Amino acid sequence: MYAIEVNNVTKKFVYEGKEFYALNNVSFNVKEGEIFGLLGPNGAGKSTLLNMMINMLHPDNGSIKVLGVNPNEDRNVLGKISFLSGESRFHWALKPIDIMNFYAKAYGLKKSERIKKINELVDLFEIKDIMNKKYDFLSTGERMRLAFAKCLINNPKLLLLDEPTLGLDPDISTKVRKEIKRMNKELKKTILLTSHYMHEVELLSNRIAFMNKGRILDVGKVKDVLSKHFSTYNLIVILKEIKNKSYLNNLGFKIKGKKITKEIFSGEDIDEILSSLTSKYKIVDLKLDRPTLEDYFVQKSRGGKD
Ligand SMILES: Nc1ncnc2c1ncn2[C@@H]1O[C@H](COP(=O)(O)OP(=O)(O)O)[C@@H](O)[C@H]1O
Ligand SMILES: [Mg+2]
Repeated sequence: MYAIEVNNVTKKFVYEGKEFYALNNVSFNVKEGEIFGLLGPNGAGKSTLLNMMINMLHPDNGSIKVLGVNPNEDRNVLGKISFLSGESRFHWALKPIDIMNFYAKAYGLKKSERIKKINELVDLFEIKDIMNKKYDFLSTGERMRLAFAKCLINNPKLLLLDEPTLGLDPDISTKVRKEIKRMNKELKKTILLTSHYMHEVELLSNRIAFMNKGRILDVGKVKDVLSKHFSTYNLIVILKEIKNKSYLNNLGFKIKGKKITKEIFSGEDIDEILSSLTSKYKIVDLKLDRPTLEDYFVQKSRGGKD
């Protein structure tokens, strides 16, 4: 069974009296146990899709199944999902202990279960020291850890994380990514994550779907999506000294000072190239400049503009 099945989903909105497609025939599946990254520029349709998964919006056409059911037909499924948006906030005067208790009650946990569950999550996210502080006084990182803890109260099978690191400092983003990995690996949660930070998606996701203007342009492993669009990468080598330039030129290197660069085709034997270098030169430094999701994103987002 797939954790999420999106089939030919279409959604129109109206803007300034004109209809436009926020989602245009979107299809993809998320497998149980994976971290799936849904990415694309602002306005691509990512949040609209997530809102359909939690039954806040409904497709005009097509269908969505979450944990095997249509969330509009079987609302019990919503108890097995958690949704977290980087934009969500709690009331400034509430304390984490009140927030955790409120949601634990809302999910129907009995008093003894509540205490056990909350203690477990407090330990997991190391938020013991902040449980009695007002939300307003918490740091961004503490707020995020609280949001994750709250997210796990119902022991969800599936986590929907909408831009979880939006606007966070790099050090806090790193911590958030670590928590996301841990929830997936140790707690076996399936995770669907949206982001427009490509580096983040590249670090976290088993598979991705790239969206632009309501359409899916690619689905697959990052590695496969990249090799579909980029057939070459650069080998950059710094040599101790440059001699016999024609030998380097014959190997296909461009020379700039002591730095030599060669375009390598995927599948080309890099060992052979390096051997021809080490037999004659001393290598000081070396780098493979492979295309990243960032490069892909720029190429696709630009290509999508009309
Ligand atoms: N309720 C709505 N009414 C009208 N337009 C909307 C509504 N919600 C989203 N949109 C528009 O639909 C498009 C997709 O939005 P969204 O799903 O939020 O994109 P993303 O999350 O990828 O940034 C955007 O152009 C946005 O302005
Ligand atoms: Mg969004």
